[in-house]
Amino acid sequence: MLVGLGAVSTTFIAGVENVRRGRALPIGSLSQMATIRLGKRTDKRTPKINEFVPLADLKDLVFAAWDPIPDDAFTAAVKAGVLDRHEHLEPIKDFLQNIKPMPAVFDQYYVKRLQGTNVKRGKNKRELAEQLREDMRNFKQSAKLDRIVIVWCASTEVFLTPGPAHQTLAAFEQAMEQNDQSIAPSMLYAYAALMEHVPFANGAPNLTVDLPVMEKLAEEHHVPIGGKDFKTGQTMMKSVLAPAFKARMLGLSGWYSTNILGNRDGEVLDDPESFKTKEESKLGLLEHILQPDLYPELYGKVYHKVRINYYPPRGDNKEGWDNIDIFGWLGYPMQIKVDFLCRDSILAAPIVLDLALFFDLAGRAGLSGIQEWLSFYFKSPQFAQGLYAEHDLFIQQTKLKNTLRWLMGEEQITHLGIEYYEYAEK
Ligand SMILES: NC(=O)c1ccc[n+]([C@@H]2O[C@H](COP(=O)([O-])OP(=O)(O)OC[C@H]3O[C@@H](n4cnc5c(N)ncnc54)[C@H](O)[C@@H]3O)[C@@H](O)[C@H]2O)c1
Repeated sequence: MLVGLGAVSTTFIAGVENVRRGRALPIGSLSQMATIRLGKRTDKRTPKINEFVPLADLKDLVFAAWDPIPDDAFTAAVKAGVLDRHEHLEPIKDFLQNIKPMPAVFDQYYVKRLQGTNVKRGKNKRELAEQLREDMRNFKQSAKLDRIVIVWCASTEVFLTPGPAHQTLAAFEQAMEQNDQSIAPSMLYAYAALMEHVPFANGAPNLTVDLPVMEKLAEEHHVPIGGKDFKTGQTMMKSVLAPAFKARMLGLSGWYSTNILGNRDGEVLDDPESFKTKEESKLGLLEHILQPDLYPELYGKVYHKVRINYYPPRGDNKEGWDNIDIFGWLGYPMQIKVDFLCRDSILAAPIVLDLALFFDLAGRAGLSGIQEWLSFYFKSPQFAQGLYAEHDLFIQQTKLKNTLRWLMGEEQITHLGIEYYEYAEK
């Protein structure tokens, strides 16, 4: 089930259907394309991930969504303008038209630039959450499903910080009844999912499941949760480049990132309050990767700036520029420029697929609460109290693959490699 039936969701659904019909490849999806090495390099065992772990099969996926805009998935996909209408949408038009969004829990206070008509009514937020729970139960029953997973692919809400209402279940439920402003719609979806024992992955930077009450509820109900914010374009590049600078002990004095994009997400982020939520999510990783406290001479004075500019002519085809000021031997300055002409939803869709499959797997494997091993997919990964987030893409990838090996009773791969050399035996 998807919260939001916009650019990312429709690109994901239409993509899966095209793949199922043999019309395209699931490029960008680790669960579908990647292999995993097992045992020693000399063993030559490298099955595909989806042959190694018991993931749900693409052919068994059934989709449903909520959106305050009543467009069906075909109309929404055409409006989003990501996929080629003739190549990837018209041939599956009937399938897409059958996916009609359920009325959403939506409040314009939290997403200023949107207006919706397909919206639930209720006397308070608790009642709205109960309606969401009913939607989940009805969908499971009517589509004869074994399990459900929810991925939040809806808009970025205004910036909120955790408060007293987010600490305990009693406080949260009381706040829902009192229509407390600190309870955003995304939290109602999260609460409803956890009450229904449904795993919840958060693709936006909203707090949603990143709250003490949700962590406790997830543990108590044995449900996997995780977020925040899909790691797709510019931040994905950052989480590759910054570890490289640190690995080589090159200094960093500044990193200026700007974006132009013209899709609905860009329009929502044009509102300063929604942008603030995104900005926080995008800014965090450099500090964590570079560890300025350990390397003050190299990373103690980094000027990090992130801008997002709404520019309609580009649609979903975002351009992300980075100007990176680094310094090397004896402090001599150098510059790197990155100009990533990417496609936002093309990068996000395979992440939605992998998250749905891996969160479902986690639920079946008895992994509840925060799924740190899926940090790979998030700009701002959730982590247990007392830890810090791991942002380096390659550490995240190792963590993910080692978790799969661990789940399947295979040896961890440390990359030590000494066992291949004779002197190791002496
Ligand atoms: N595409 C990427 O690369 C990327 C990367 C990271 C995060 N994200 C996040 O993913 C989300 C989706 O992006 P998109 O490009 O599909 O945006 P979009 O605007 O095309 O789609 C979002 C949809 O969510 C709906 N929505 C808003 N509030 C809702 C609510 N309370 N309940 C149900 N539906 C609601 C909107 O009506 C809209 O149709 C955004 O929050 C975006 O910031 C996208």
